[in-house]
Amino acid sequence: MSSKERLIIFDTTLRDGEQSPGATMSVSEKIELALELELLGVDVIEAGFPIASPGDFRAVKEISKVIKSSRVCGLARAKRTDIDAAIESLAGSQQKRLHTFIATSPIHMTHKLKMSPEKVIEAAVDAVKYARGFIDDIEFSAEDGGRSEPMFLAELIEQVIKAGATTINIPDTVGYCVPHQFGAFIKQVISNVSNREQAVFSVHCHNDLGLATANSLAAIEAGARQIECTINGLGERAGNAALEEVVMAVNTRQDLFPLETNIDAKRLVGISQRVSEITGFAVQPNKSIVGRNAFAHEAGIHQDGILKHRETYEIMRAEDVGWSGEQIVLGKHSGRNAFMNRLAKLGIHFESKEGFEAAFSQFKRVADQGRGVTDQQLRMFLDKATVSVDV
Ligand code: KIV
Ligand code: ZN
Repeated sequence: MSSKERLIIFDTTLRDGEQSPGATMSVSEKIELALELELLGVDVIEAGFPIASPGDFRAVKEISKVIKSSRVCGLARAKRTDIDAAIESLAGSQQKRLHTFIATSPIHMTHKLKMSPEKVIEAAVDAVKYARGFIDDIEFSAEDGGRSEPMFLAELIEQVIKAGATTINIPDTVGYCVPHQFGAFIKQVISNVSNREQAVFSVHCHNDLGLATANSLAAIEAGARQIECTINGLGERAGNAALEEVVMAVNTRQDLFPLETNIDAKRLVGISQRVSEITGFAVQPNKSIVGRNAFAHEAGIHQDGILKHRETYEIMRAEDVGWSGEQIVLGKHSGRNAFMNRLAKLGIHFESKEGFEAAFSQFKRVADQGRGVTDQQLRMFLDKATVSVDV
């Protein structure tokens, strides 16, 4: 048994992720991904927003039946009709969570909800108390929490914990926060909630300024112990914090985040590719962790360093996140060391230094024209050079 504190991973690929324009998934695709997320080891799977559509209702219902080791969660606004739909869809789940939310920022309360701050607290408390009558695990989210008044937020949170909320989520709904400020904000809010020990604090960061992962990490430092995230960072607009980034940042920088997750990191690349196939959203080649270039080295100096000592240019091992195969890409920036190393792996040796130099020049000419030289191309032009081949 590890003595490390646990970081809860709450995946919302099937709810917030599916809210990306064009990323709609069928019920059967959602069930398939839910099973993959369970194998990945996520603690909570947010399976949908049951009141939003019959498809979402059915997805939560079907996922509730098949998922055994993760907790299944359904989203509901702070309204009894929404909560009733979520409770009904979660009925078949062995471990369920109801997630209810209401906006708490001045701009949302004034212009969207047209409710006073007092009425917002009343609605939040009523929703949590009502839901708690049916389900023990209740998450409350303060929508647009990142732009809310910290002391008002602390007051509201204290009330919803009193009403029975077990997880308190503070979203940066519009991706406006920046790490040092968000971390200080989360710390300030948590420290002003007198019953804070009775709930787990969580954040849910959007990526409008490209800071979702950084803000999530800042919140962990400030005391958050649940992170809401999605595979490939899918989600509304610019997306949510990417699960693979948060998990690998925590795994890689244990000196800063001495926490453990239940994620089987070797499954990250596989699930990323499946989410990409299902949604039709390509993963950019240079996407951290799961992009096809995330561990590929082409620069000669880097390749030489990697071949001498991997950690000169790699902070993680490709195989630890599910990549297999060669990560050194032979291209126009590659040097002699990488070229010779690849040939040795292919069982090709040179009988003379001149032969090697001629082949290296030929390789550079080929590499200059294309995107990378494959093993097959190498074999083809080396057939003509003076080499011996292992049999
Ligand atoms: O971004 C957001 O605020 C949300 C909440 C419903 C958690 O998705
Ligand atoms: Zn969101």
